[in-house]
Amino acid sequence: LSLVDVKEDFFKVLHPKLTVLIAAYSKDKRPNVMACSWITPASEEPPLIAAFLARTSYTRQLILESKYFTVNVPTLDLLKAVWVAGTRSGRRGDKIKAMGVAVKPAKNVDAPIIDGCAAYLECKLNQAIEVGECTALIGEVVEAYANPQLFQAGAWSVERAKLLLHLGGALFTLPSGTVKAK
Ligand SMILES: Cc1cc2nc3c(=O)[nH]c(=O)nc-3n(C[C@H](O)[C@H](O)[C@H](O)COP(=O)(O)O)c2cc1C
Repeated sequence: LSLVDVKEDFFKVLHPKLTVLIAAYSKDKRPNVMACSWITPASEEPPLIAAFLARTSYTRQLILESKYFTVNVPTLDLLKAVWVAGTRSGRRGDKIKAMGVAVKPAKNVDAPIIDGCAAYLECKLNQAIEVGECTALIGEVVEAYANPQLFQAGAWSVERAKLLLHLGGALFTLPSGTVKAK
């Protein structure tokens, strides 16, 4: 078997990745949201995450201005809204309205959360690092809460939570089961 060159798609070799919605307020308290799959835990003590947002993204600008954001974990029923969040910019018109979702204020940070998601992380911006065409936004997790029917005993119940795993472009896959290493 000869291997094929996938350099052009190198990042997709590291997918599937959990798709989230990142939300923040503008200075005049208008909520905006974008789809993001380049996001990862970065530290447990203190609790930090890293999200890689293109410098062109409006959400990135809002987070740098407000210093707060939320990570919202959607499931399959929000696929259409996720696609809108990931293909339009909040710079041009009210994206929340186009997505057909409801937002409300987060509990403990100055940012919105998206109704109907399976879990939420409320974050305070800790650091912003320029990385290629992206900015790594390091967020300290101030609050984290989840739907108890979908996240049980410290893990996703993937048979119930139809999490969207991004393959790249318009392609997603769904988790198909759980295995135990011991
Ligand atoms: C499934 C999916 C995942 C995405 N992941 C990222 C990402 O990790 N980083 C990024 O900068 N853009 C990502 N995008 C693209 C942004 O969501 C898109 O550019 C969006 O229009 C930015 O909106 P904004 O300008 O309102 O912030 C993704 C798009 C989709 C559909």
